Amino acid sequence: MRQRVGIESLAVAVPHRYLDLEDLARARGVDPAKYTQGLGAKQMAVAEPGEDAAALAATAAKRLIENNSLDPANLGMLVVGTETGVDHSKAVASYVQGMLKLPRGMRTFDVQHACYGGTAGLMAAAEWIASGAAAGRSAIVIASDIARYELNSPGEPTQGGGAVALLVSAEPDLLELDFGMNGVFSMDVHDFWRPLGRREAVVDGHYSIACYLEALSGAYRGWRERAIAREMIRPKDLPSEQLARVVYHVPFCKMAKKAHAQVRRCDIEDTRGVTWNEALDAQEAPAMTASFEKQVASTLGLCAQVGNAYTASLYLGIAGLLEKEAAALEGERIGLFSYGSGCCGEFFSGVVGKKAAQKMAAAKLGNVLAQRERIRFDEYERVLKLPPGEPLQGIHAAPGTFRYCGSQDFRRVYAAG
Ligand code: CAA
Repeated sequence: MRQRVGIESLAVAVPHRYLDLEDLARARGVDPAKYTQGLGAKQMAVAEPGEDAAALAATAAKRLIENNSLDPANLGMLVVGTETGVDHSKAVASYVQGMLKLPRGMRTFDVQHACYGGTAGLMAAAEWIASGAAAGRSAIVIASDIARYELNSPGEPTQGGGAVALLVSAEPDLLELDFGMNGVFSMDVHDFWRPLGRREAVVDGHYSIACYLEALSGAYRGWRERAIAREMIRPKDLPSEQLARVVYHVPFCKMAKKAHAQVRRCDIEDTRGVTWNEALDAQEAPAMTASFEKQVASTLGLCAQVGNAYTASLYLGIAGLLEKEAAALEGERIGLFSYGSGCCGEFFSGVVGKKAAQKMAAAKLGNVLAQRERIRFDEYERVLKLPPGEPLQGIHAAPGTFRYCGSQDFRRVYAAG
C-alpha cells in the first residue's frame, strides 16, 4: 500500500498592520478600481523591521505546535522556504529552532527559489517521509516572506507579507498529497529577482506574468499526463474541471484569474485539437467566468487581505479556502500551483482530509486577522522608508509572537511576547 503523506495541520502569522489599497491608490493619484478590480487586491500587510521573515516564521511555528499540542520530540526536520532571509549564511530555520527551543536532533535548513522555496521544502519533507527515512517522525515546513517593491513603482500595490507553518506527516488530516503526480517546469529567466544588497525586488512586471503562465502550462500538462495515466481524472471531459478547487500562487488576486484561464486554454487546445484564437476566447468567456467562480474564487479571501507573501502565498490560499470550505470539500481533490520567478513552477494535487474542518478550527485564522490594525498612508510610507535592520522602538512583541529587536555584534536578537 502506498505511504500516505501530506499536510496534517497548519498555522498562519501575518504582520500586525495593513494598508487599505484604496488609501494607497488615492495617495498615488490612481483610480482605486485599478487596484481593487484590475489587480483584485483589497489590503496589503505592512511589516515593520521588527517583523522580519524569521520572526513571522517562528510565530507561525509556535502557533502550529501549541494549537495542535505537538510533541517537539517527534519532529525530525525543520525547513524554511524564504526569499527574504535575514543573513547570507545562517538559516532562518536555525533562528526558528532557537526561538522555539526545539530539540537538536533534527535536520534544519532553508530553501531559496523565489516564491517556490516553500513548495520545494514541502516536497523534500513529503519525500523524506514517504521514503521511510523519517522513521515515523514529522516535519515542520514554514513558508515566510515580506514582499517589497520600490515606493511609487507598479509593483507597490502588490506588496504584503506573512508566514504559513505546515506540519507534514504520514497522517495528512488536512490534505493528503497525490504522490508522484507533480508536474514541473523550470527555465532561466530574469522576470523578478533581488540582487545582493537590495531590499526591494527588481521586476519586469508584464514579462513575469508571461513567465508564470508559461511555467503553469508546462507544469499543468505534466501533472495532467500523470493524473490521466493513473486514472485519477478522465481524459475526455475537461481535466481541470474535475478538480473541486484550484489554488494558485497569487502575487495579486487577478493573477489567479489569468492562471485559471490558461489552464482551461491548455485543456481545450489539447482535448479538442484546436489552436486558441479570439473567436474561441469570446465563445469560452461565459464558461470561463463560471468555472473561475466555482473553482477558484473561494481560494482568494485571505490573499486579498494580506497581499503577496511570496513563498507563503499558495499556502495562504489553501488556508483561506479550507477555513471557508473544509467540511464541504472533505474527500475532494484540489489542484495547487506554485510559482517561483527565475523560474520554477510545480502543479500538484491532494485530497482534503476528513479532519480538515477540525484542523482549521484549531488554526484560529479569524483571531489572526482580527488582531490586525489598519494604518494610514503616511505611516505606511514612514515605515517603508526606515533603514533595514532598525526595528521601531517602543513596540513589544504581542503575546504569543516573536519580534526582531536589534543586533549585537552582528548577532540578531529576537524577543518573545
Ligand atoms: N479600473 C479597473 N481596472 C483597471 C483600471 C481601472 N481604472 N486601470 C487598469 N486596470 C486593469 C488593467 O486593465 C489590468 O488588467 P488586465 O491585466 O486584466 O489587463 C490591470 O488593471 C493592471 O493594470 P496594468 O497592467 O496597467 O498595471 P501595471 O502595469 O501598473 O502593473 C503589474 C501590473 C505588472 C502586475 C505590477 O503590479 C507588477 O509589476 N507587480 C509585481 C510583479 C508580479 O506580481 N508579477 C506576477 C508574476 S511573477 C510571480 O508571481 C512571482 C511573484 O510573486 C512576484
